[in-house]
This record gives sequence, structure tokens and C-alpha cells, in this order.
Amino acid sequence: MRKKIIAGNWKMNYTLTEADNFVNEIKDRINTDELDVVLCPNNICLERVSDLIDGTNIKLGAQNVHYEEKGAYTGETSANMLLSVNAKYCIIGHSERRQYFAETDEMVNKKAKKLLEKNITPIICVGETLEQRESGILFEHISSQIKNALDGISSDSVKNNIVIAYEPIWAIGTGKTASSMQAEEMCKYIRDEIRKLYDDKVAECVKIQYGGSVKPSNASEILNMEDIDGALVGGASLTNDFVAIVNYE
Ligand code: PGA
Repeated sequence: MRKKIIAGNWKMNYTLTEADNFVNEIKDRINTDELDVVLCPNNICLERVSDLIDGTNIKLGAQNVHYEEKGAYTGETSANMLLSVNAKYCIIGHSERRQYFAETDEMVNKKAKKLLEKNITPIICVGETLEQRESGILFEHISSQIKNALDGISSDSVKNNIVIAYEPIWAIGTGKTASSMQAEEMCKYIRDEIRKLYDDKVAECVKIQYGGSVKPSNASEILNMEDIDGALVGGASLTNDFVAIVNYE
């Protein structure tokens, strides 16, 4: 049985004070060990959120990392810096980073390797645009994103220390959720691709989340699908809706 994982991607929201207020408001209501709950604040708030969730079952995640160890990369954050605030997860390859910051499959692969070297779990995002879905290259596109992201990564790492987030770009922040059947179809496809690249054991262990307009009203339907092991939540992770999502039945 794969333990579900629900992560909140705050994106570029919340100042320190706002983060304080929000985390204090929700932390005792999402303190469960039945599933893994991860908060991914912006870099400024990482340390504060880390302190606030200390002693709870909530884990800390970052939204990005650089793949080099350290050095002259103005504005970037290293994996060691994430370790220093006790981050356990890091989102990489989010479609917003691919679209606005030119993050490529090759960079995603390098970031995944660097995070694994530091024992931080990468949450690797993949997803298609509406045009890609409608023009029929949907599966080919997702398959190539998965292959490129996992290139050279060991089966042990994929089995124990990687999360894949399937996030159709047309469903992110738009209020349009993929139907639970569409989400399940793609998460199952991703699992089968991983089976081809590795083996049955790896495919059965790897965690695959769905992301894109997850909210309290659709959480249970999505989270109860067989191949969907959790959710990556954007907008709804900034409000009390996140508590309702984590407490889905
Ligand atoms: P959304 O974002 O829940 O606001 O659609 C999801 C994401 O981008 O991870």
C-alpha cells in the first residue's frame, strides 16, 4: 500500500507574517500520520515554516533548487541550503518554471540527481498543454518528460525517494480539473512507463500525484483512484481548503 502524499505549493505567495498566521492556523488540523503532508513555501519563509512545523508530522518542501553544489549563480538556492532548513522535498520541473524560467528536461534531470545526492525527495512535475492533448501527442510527450527526468537515476532512488506529479497545464490555476478518469488514466500510464524503464517493484512503489485545481469538492474522487497517490495543490493550499483536502475521505 503506497502512503498518500499531499503537498501544498504556495508559489509566490505569503510574506513571513502571513506565513506565520497561516501555518499557526492550520498546523494542528493537518497533523496526521495516515498520509504525508508537505508544505512548500517560498524561500524567504522556508526557515520560519520549518520552525513552526517542528514537532508535527508535516514536512517541509521547497519550490526549486539549483543543480550545482554552490558558487556564482546569483539568485539561486543550493540543495545544501535546503538541507540547512530541514527541507525533505523539493518541487522541480513545475510547468510555471518550464514556461517562465526556461527550465528544460535536462535541468530537471540534473536537479533530481543533486537532490537525491542530498537525500531530499524530488517532486518531479510533468504535464501537457491543451494543444498537446488535443493533437494526440499527449502520451508521447509525457513519456519523454518522464524518460528525460529519470535518465541515469537508479531503481532504488525511483522506488524509495521520488514523487512524480502529473499536472496537466490546462488544469493549473484555471479551475478546470482533469476528470478523475483522465487523471487516473495518465497516472496509470506513467506507472506503466516506469515499469518499462525499471521493473514491477519500482512501478508499484513510486508515488504519483495529480495536480491542477484540486479542491475540497474534487479531492476524494481524485485521491481515491487506484494509481493516484496524492495531490500537488496550488491555490487551495493557501486557505483552509488545504485542511479539508488533507482530511478527505
Ligand atoms: P492549482 O496549482 O492547484 O492552483 O491548479 C497546482 C500546481 O500548480 O501545483
